[in-house]
Amino acid sequence: MQIKTALTYDDVLLVPQKSNIISRQDVNTSTKISKNIHLKIPFVSANMDTVTESKMAIAMSLAGGIGIVHRFCSIEAQAKEVMIVKRKQNIIIDNPFIVSPDDTLGEVKEKIKEYNCKSFLVTNNQQDLLGILTHRDMIFEKNNDTLVSDIMTPRSKLVTAPYNIGPEKAKELMNNNKIEKLPLVDEEFKIKGLITATDIADNYNNENASKDAKGRLLVGGAVGVRNDYMKRVDALVSAEVDVLVLDIAHGHSSNELEAIKQIKEKYPSVDLIGGNIATAKAASDLIKAGVDAVKVGIGPGSICTTRITTGYGVPQLTAVMNVASVTRRHKIPLIADGGVKQPGDAVKALAAGADTVMMGGQFGGTTESPGPTINYHGRQYKISRGMASLTAALGRPDAKEKISDITPEGVEARVPYRGPVQSILNQYVGGLKSGMSYGNAGDLSKLRKNAEFIRITNAGVTESNSHDNEVL
Ligand code: XMP
Repeated sequence: MQIKTALTYDDVLLVPQKSNIISRQDVNTSTKISKNIHLKIPFVSANMDTVTESKMAIAMSLAGGIGIVHRFCSIEAQAKEVMIVKRKQNIIIDNPFIVSPDDTLGEVKEKIKEYNCKSFLVTNNQQDLLGILTHRDMIFEKNNDTLVSDIMTPRSKLVTAPYNIGPEKAKELMNNNKIEKLPLVDEEFKIKGLITATDIADNYNNENASKDAKGRLLVGGAVGVRNDYMKRVDALVSAEVDVLVLDIAHGHSSNELEAIKQIKEKYPSVDLIGGNIATAKAASDLIKAGVDAVKVGIGPGSICTTRITTGYGVPQLTAVMNVASVTRRHKIPLIADGGVKQPGDAVKALAAGADTVMMGGQFGGTTESPGPTINYHGRQYKISRGMASLTAALGRPDAKEKISDITPEGVEARVPYRGPVQSILNQYVGGLKSGMSYGNAGDLSKLRKNAEFIRITNAGVTESNSHDNEVL
């Protein structure tokens, strides 16, 4: 048996090229996460329960990347997180939150907590618009038994518009009437949608955000391949998820190939990402089965112990290059998932053939990741854990195993608290743009085309890091 050598990010560097890039601002970092989903920056937050729920997904999408909401919760809870992202900004909200005129203020307060939304259209069972209830209507009302009908702004005082009004006219109408919400109705005054001033402002002001055709933020959702996974797929598609990610540790498996078939048969127009894989053969099989992108990474992650527990895995740079040899031919995007510790690693992944880079540990310590910050010896941290770690396995909704029966393939870890995810993304986008100027690459396809890797020694790694001083 011949044993091949495989490399990872620290084993190599990119050789600088003669550059015609005058300013880092001249480079274009746009890319695709899957066949039909375009992004302005190639960064994706991982589908882990300590990394991506709605808060992270919103921040990633506003910055031009995307977040994949994890699946380690009930189907309803995951679909709700996706829905929160899809409702964060719109030009038109097609299904506005509604309340009944007979609801009490107490019931409305529960809805406010559940949906993180402060205004509601008031309607009866026939979808007739009866009024609107906004934050202002509730500020001074202290009695939780007060009925919505007593405090809402009634239909007679509402400014409304038809569904096809368009953003420019809607803006004018809201400005002229000094209103923040514009209900859209048909001739019979049935609710057809809602336009809000904040949504219009957000959409016009934020050109970099990742948006769908209706101006809503993009979001992905992870699903498994066993038991009731099709119910999860149905719920995510109903919540209008933009891309589904098959989230299993060994994606090159008959289970996953069957799931791809089922999902694609039922939802041919929803992009589907297959993963995780680490070989060219796996990429070929998944592409043949119908995926719209592949996710690469068996064991490189910061909290992964798959390679230690099972002996299997491929160092990440080689895995990306091997898979890219197939995905490029088929024009299928490749996501390099895991093992990125610093911006230079992401540049190497993209130069080696990845279209996007998924990160867990790097985003796990930010304000937007789920979970509280904790204090330990006077410093602030957040918890990051592998989705195959002991506590993750015990915490699953369907967990049946005893502790002694679980073989973890991941660990629980403390990561330093690092503030808002935007500041981490600034470092990654800045490093990438600078890297692209070293590679004479105006866009990511040129970065790949011009890439010339050299293998370095341990002495080279030492030289690459700051050395012979005490870093402040
Ligand atoms: P980073 O290095 O960005 O990696 O923190 C995130 C990726 O790690 C994978 N992941 C796991 N891999 N055991 C594993 O072997 C686990 O318990 C585990 N949890 C997450 C996953 O691909 C993620 O995106």
